[in-house]
Amino acid sequence: VVDIKGGPDEGLDRLGQTLAVKGWVRTLRVQSSVIFIEVNDGSCLSNMQCVMNSDADGYDQVESGSITTGASVSIQGTLVASQGSKQKVELNVLKIVTVGKSDPSFPIQKKRVSREFLRTKAHLRPRTNTFGAVARVRNALAYATHKFFQENGFVWISSPIITASDCEGAGEQFCVTTLIPSSREATDSTVDAIPKAKDGLIDWSQDFFGKPAFLTVSGQLNAETYATALSDVYTFGPTFRAENSNTSRHLAEFWMIEPELAFADLNDDMACATAYLQYVVTYILENCKEDMEFFNTWIEKGIINRLSDVAEKNFVQLTYTDAVELLIRANKKFEFPVKWGCDLQSEHERYITEVAFGGCPVIIRDYPKDIKAFYMRRNDDGKTVAAMDMLVPRVGELIGGSQREERLEYLEERLDDLKLNKDSFWWYLDLRRYGSVPHAGFGLGFERLVQFATGMDNIRDAIPFPRTPGSAEF
Ligand code: 4AD
Ligand code: MG
Repeated sequence: VVDIKGGPDEGLDRLGQTLAVKGWVRTLRVQSSVIFIEVNDGSCLSNMQCVMNSDADGYDQVESGSITTGASVSIQGTLVASQGSKQKVELNVLKIVTVGKSDPSFPIQKKRVSREFLRTKAHLRPRTNTFGAVARVRNALAYATHKFFQENGFVWISSPIITASDCEGAGEQFCVTTLIPSSREATDSTVDAIPKAKDGLIDWSQDFFGKPAFLTVSGQLNAETYATALSDVYTFGPTFRAENSNTSRHLAEFWMIEPELAFADLNDDMACATAYLQYVVTYILENCKEDMEFFNTWIEKGIINRLSDVAEKNFVQLTYTDAVELLIRANKKFEFPVKWGCDLQSEHERYITEVAFGGCPVIIRDYPKDIKAFYMRRNDDGKTVAAMDMLVPRVGELIGGSQREERLEYLEERLDDLKLNKDSFWWYLDLRRYGSVPHAGFGLGFERLVQFATGMDNIRDAIPFPRTPGSAEF
């Protein structure tokens, strides 16, 4: 008996063999003496249709109602060509065993349920077609990310989650608190100890063993230290933002991919971002065909064509100054009026990619220094910095990057201007003291990439367990 996994066509070469399938019952249909059970094990979108006659071993379990939607089963059967139009093969059941029954209250029944509802069932939503497909495509994007950077000579660096620095200088950080049991008897386990805090057995200290520390907003500064030793590196890990925004594009905990290139300028950075995006998009179009067809039909019509264009066409590039001019000339009533120096809002970003450039990714460069982070390299005009944002339709800002200020005197001046504490950046400034090189990098929000690649409109549906203001239940 061989386990069967894989796409809908898998098995065509195994007709007549006895195979096993283990998974969860999606639907069960009784037709006179024949029972059809659709089983899914998550390896692909298609269910395995299992056809059972009354002579099958275990038939009585189905008849007695102990196998229902949501139950886990182990089935052995003979693989045959299917007479149905939905699938090419099906399994003639020889034996069925209930592994775990499903209570009738199982909330994911065949009828369609809203994604809002499914967010309240985050532990069961991977059992749906949509969330199974999102999980597989997210996995493929992660795999393709590592593949792209590894094939191009980048070294993966793990940046710390707990840190004292605020890379973006925006003060949007979660604070780390140490839970110190003050009495040994109280420490059966930390979880046990938490309720005892009320009894005065626990000291709460608002810091990391006596020093302030936060959850990282970005691994960039750490990546820079390794880029100025190993040349090209990248990080790929969780990052945290304490911005209280309830939008379809913001999470409090999201994964970020941050390449950092040594001996590189802004043009190299933009070329890398473009090549990366085109690579991962091509990868999923080639390797996730069934799931992408599903998104194309049910989630966003035309997404396959849209992504194929992204993989092939050149991206638009323009300066911030030109982008502002374009928006002013558009003569549109924006909620936030546009003038040089303002931060671009999502309505502006969407206008630029969706209307002005017909759905093409757009890279905007050379932003005013006053709306960008301290580490970005000052341009010769003194007003702008070598920054770039990549905007894509529907999602808006997918990537934010820059050439870094590698000149010690300019960097110190910028920290002073922004009243940031130079002492706490001593190690970052050291990189400019010892063998400084031009270098550049970017950050890509992984969940925004998943949104872009699947057509899911809410970022909460692009990560298994979304963390948003007030929601950390699962
Ligand atoms: O533009 P950001 O803030 O840039 C940085 O953090 C740089 N240190 C990156 C670098 O140069 N290494 O964030 C980068 C990207 C954004 O373009 C966006 O895709 C994503 O991270 N992002 C978020 N994604 C989900 N939820 C949030 N709250 C996000 N904030 C940023
Ligand atoms: Mg940004």
